[in-house]
Amino acid sequence: MSLAERHLEEELLDVLPADDPRALRSRRDLQRVNVLMGQRFILRRNLAALFGARAPRRVIEIGAGDGSLMLSLARSLAPRWSGVSAVLIDRRPVVSPATLNAFTALGWRVECVTADILTWFHQRRDADLVMANLVLHHFDECALRDLLAGIAGAARVFIATEPRRSAAALAGSRALVLIGCNEVSRHDAVASVRAGFTDRELSALWPADDVWRLSERGAGLFTHLFIARRLIHPSLEDTA
Ligand SMILES: C[S@@+](CC[C@H](N)C(=O)[O-])C[C@H]1O[C@@H](n2cnc3c(N)ncnc32)[C@H](O)[C@@H]1O
Repeated sequence: MSLAERHLEEELLDVLPADDPRALRSRRDLQRVNVLMGQRFILRRNLAALFGARAPRRVIEIGAGDGSLMLSLARSLAPRWSGVSAVLIDRRPVVSPATLNAFTALGWRVECVTADILTWFHQRRDADLVMANLVLHHFDECALRDLLAGIAGAARVFIATEPRRSAAALAGSRALVLIGCNEVSRHDAVASVRAGFTDRELSALWPADDVWRLSERGAGLFTHLFIARRLIHPSLEDTA
């Protein structure tokens, strides 16, 4: 299986009804996959370095799924990050009342929006931080260019943690059977790696504009990390 080029195929979680038992199980699997990939650790370390003591006030997560990754980040960044307003966008309404209550307990105001992120940014949006975890790889270059332009029009900082298109990540995705992930998760994990990113593929799709500083690299064993930040906010510190 060549990883030289991106290869897109439909992911099962995107076509199953949100309440299908296989989809529900796969979303629980995703929480474990995020732990195995070290997504929270990678995001937390880089967000702390980017924002320092000045927490973002308004955060948008695209393709937020059940909101559990954002919640675990909110918990680990508390109490420094409090009073945050967050918008969680996904085309499936799968954030549970318990998750929303947990955000409230941390002092976060969270709005869940059920929408297609490819059109959501066509209206004017504004955020200190836009985040994406395991989402950008769903889209072809044309859709990505449009989505990233919309995000660049809205955000001071954009951070994305995506599957890295590498032999190690492919081996990791095939090994998910060992931790009991279901057939949906196993299919989507392999598909995600094949549609993932390497080199400076996301930077090449970001709007060419010198107000942005871009960073793109592997992080951990399986993750491809992309960060864009506006240079007109010099208070933002360098990432670790
Ligand atoms: C692999 S899951 C990751 C979910 C979440 N970020 C996490 O880490 O658990 C990808 C998510 O993107 C959402 N998604 C895919 N395409 C989308 C679109 N065009 N608009 C909105 N959400 C989308 C899916 O519904 C799904 O929840």
